[in-house]
Amino acid sequence: MRPSPQPLEQPLAVDAFAPGHAPILETRHLRWPDESACAAFAAALARKPGLHDAFIELRGPLGAGKTAFARHLLRALGVTGRIKSPSYALLEPYGVGDLAISHLDFYRFDDAREWVDAGLRDVFAAPGLKIVEWPEKAADLLPAPDLRLTLAVDDDGTRRVRVDALSARGRALLA
Ligand SMILES: Nc1ncnc2c1ncn2[C@@H]1O[C@H](COP(=O)(O)OP(=O)(O)O)[C@@H](O)[C@H]1O
Ligand SMILES: [Mg+2]
Repeated sequence: MRPSPQPLEQPLAVDAFAPGHAPILETRHLRWPDESACAAFAAALARKPGLHDAFIELRGPLGAGKTAFARHLLRALGVTGRIKSPSYALLEPYGVGDLAISHLDFYRFDDAREWVDAGLRDVFAAPGLKIVEWPEKAADLLPAPDLRLTLAVDDDGTRRVRVDALSARGRALLA
């Protein structure tokens, strides 16, 4: 008797990444009246040694300033040249010295299979900084972040930012 064929649609083995509901260990509330305040926070964060293997989630509506923050962080880390929004490519990789940085945007992501095809699991299995916009669109596929920034825009354009630390590394980044 021949063995029954493997089902075409294997369930995705994503258990290792199941984030559950990681507890928030610490929260900060920031106010960025303009983009230079965002740049200053990014520059301070870039100086923290723990950042090099961190996973940072960026939440908030379209236009909140997620990509702007990612750009300031990448620049502060020494990325030169054009920094594209990864909203079409899903992933824009950078290298600075031996630091690998992955900037991801899941806004247009709607298929878990796409995650595997794009090799995105490898990104999270490897060392390096991960910056992720729209993590909620890939919620069950992502590990728990170290830091979660949730941005909101006031009527006058001021950004209000809630920063949650969800790991010891995240707490160290806020110290
Ligand atoms: N802190 C800020 N203060 C003022 N303007 C900002 C700030 N952050 C972003 N912006 C501006 O808001 C616009 C949208 O930002 P963007 O980063 O593309 O948003 P998102 O990635 O959240 O959709 C850009 O023109 C950007 O320059
Ligand atoms: Mg964006």
